Amino acid sequence: MKIRLGVLASHGGSNLQAIIDQIKKENVNIEIVAVISNNSGSFALKRAKSEGINVYHISSKTTFDVGEQIIKVFRQHQVNLIALAGYMKKIPDSVLKKYSNRILNIHPALLPKYGGEGMYGMNVHEAVINAKEEYSGVTIHLVNSKYDEGRILNQQKVPIAKDDSASTLAEKILLVEHKLYFATLKLISEEKIMLQ
Ligand code: GAR
Repeated sequence: MKIRLGVLASHGGSNLQAIIDQIKKENVNIEIVAVISNNSGSFALKRAKSEGINVYHISSKTTFDVGEQIIKVFRQHQVNLIALAGYMKKIPDSVLKKYSNRILNIHPALLPKYGGEGMYGMNVHEAVINAKEEYSGVTIHLVNSKYDEGRILNQQKVPIAKDDSASTLAEKILLVEHKLYFATLKLISEEKIMLQ
């Protein structure tokens, strides 16, 4: 399948950048056609803009119906798959309905552990370190109405060293994220991972 990817991101967008870079290097059937952020000053938007990708700022602070606006933009660009890349807002029900089984998220832990509301970014790594786990990892999953509970599509373990802190673990995990998101998108485009 030819993927016309729409990305939602809130902050740094390093996962977005990794996908952009890998698309340029490999001959794949994936195109990022629009990037939306709730945060007008996000580095993710700057990165996308400098790559010539269509960018949009859609926020509940400036828009009455965020879902309607997201759908409008993604419809305009014929998006057929959405990737959340560090998107820190809940996905409106209207978007979940319109893109049912077509929204992916990346989570910096081995779901179903260390997921749910409030489990994002450093909160996740701190919880994993405090629990003295031997492994953490990365999960790519489908998004549904419950935080981090959609079907798991791909996962990779990351061993935790005795002297790892939440921030050193975060760095290790981010490197794995940067490979696994693109690899999963590629498998979807090759129809080796089916979305339903
Ligand atoms: C990533 O570590 C991603 O897994 C995490 O936010 C970071 C975004 O980094 N997402 C979550 O915690 C979602 N629950 P990036 O903006 O540099 O791609």
